[in-house]
Amino acid sequence: MKIGIIGLGTVGLGVLEILVNESKNLKAKGADIEIKYACDLDHDKVFPNNFDKTTLIKNYETILNDPDVDTIVELIGGDNLAKKIILEAIDKGKNVITANKALIAKHPKEIFSRAIEKDVNLFYEASVGGGIPIIAPLLENLVANNILGIRGIINGTCNYILSEMSHNDLEFDTVLNDAMEKGYAEADPSFDIEGIDAAHKICILASLAFNKTVDVKKILTNGITKIKLSDLKLAESLGYSIKLIAAASQNNNSISISVEPTLVNKKDLLSNVEGVFNAVEVEGDYVGKTLFYGRGAGKEATASAVVADIVKAALKCTYKDRHYFNIEEDAILLGENEFSGKYYVRVGKTFPELEKISYQIEQIAEEYIYFTNTIKLKELKNILGNEEYSLLRIN
Ligand SMILES: NC(=O)c1ccc[n+]([C@@H]2O[C@H](COP(=O)([O-])OP(=O)(O)OC[C@H]3O[C@@H](n4cnc5c(N)ncnc54)[C@H](OP(=O)(O)O)[C@@H]3O)[C@@H](O)[C@H]2O)c1
Repeated sequence: MKIGIIGLGTVGLGVLEILVNESKNLKAKGADIEIKYACDLDHDKVFPNNFDKTTLIKNYETILNDPDVDTIVELIGGDNLAKKIILEAIDKGKNVITANKALIAKHPKEIFSRAIEKDVNLFYEASVGGGIPIIAPLLENLVANNILGIRGIINGTCNYILSEMSHNDLEFDTVLNDAMEKGYAEADPSFDIEGIDAAHKICILASLAFNKTVDVKKILTNGITKIKLSDLKLAESLGYSIKLIAAASQNNNSISISVEPTLVNKKDLLSNVEGVFNAVEVEGDYVGKTLFYGRGAGKEATASAVVADIVKAALKCTYKDRHYFNIEEDAILLGENEFSGKYYVRVGKTFPELEKISYQIEQIAEEYIYFTNTIKLKELKNILGNEEYSLLRIN
């Protein structure tokens, strides 16, 4: 199979490295892959030793216009040009491999309907959980099950920040700046710390799990920007860690999907997922709970998942239809106002109404922390009114 890789950044270079270094192994496993083109605007990079630099090009159109290329690997990211490239490749009958979660989460109907119409493979294993296999297991190994729920830590940057705050007694801003300097966080980290990246990923997982199309804009999304060291310390003293948890579960006819900072009991396996690691727990009605754990990002881990998809395409996978979720049926999502649960509320004044519904109240300096019994989110927000507050779910 002849491929063209578009985008030789972190992941693209990782993919090149594996394809060049493991070419014999992959061939022995039945996948004969030829890199016909490797495309990036910048050719001044450290390429693997045996990489054939004559394949380097700067204009991706060359790949799209070459009928000899069976498969394109889109690794430039973003959602404008990447979308254009993917749609054009599909139109030309090429398979597409991508790691672009933003694109799949935001435009599944447009992309999948085109791929189904043109009968090409479109694989995106690396879009969620980096190197952790999670999309193929949901579609293949767990297919016998009705999925009851998914819960996970799927943003490594947030998990790294929360772990560093907790282990080194540091405040959020200090760790974020350090993470940006070390390259663990993007130059513009808002996508990660505001929970948007996790929302894209849980959107894809929920769509696959419940076989419906989820509108990413309707997902209840809260990030970690308001979390203080004192929150982590108090949670710890009570037997909890704080994690950014993305969750989706079936709820009668609707699906509740959320990304929320959450107090996770120390006995829960997710509470021990540290640093840049990710973990996804999937519960099926027959299999029970399964846990997928590993490196959720990074050059080699993500490239491992991309190469698996390339191999799948090279092996002329015949179950292509199953890689799409149902784009004919829209998921009905639980509205923000209908969410309920136990909450940890930190606020700068006392609220007698909160006292009545809380099982524990703490005071740290000038702030009050209420641990509420189960309450509707809407009611809680009504009580808090316009007051500044920080809200965490209690698991
Ligand atoms: N990094 C991870 O750990 C990770 C994990 C999971 C999924 N992903 C996904 O994988 C994708 C790639 O991520 P990344 O971290 O590898 O990004 P990256 O390091 O920014 O790499 C993107 C590369 O694409 C190049 N590029 C941009 N426009 C181009 C064009 N018109 N033609 C050719 N090349 C172009 C960029 O070149 P310039 O630098 O010159 O602009 C850059 O080298 C994204 O969708 C991301 O969400 C990444």
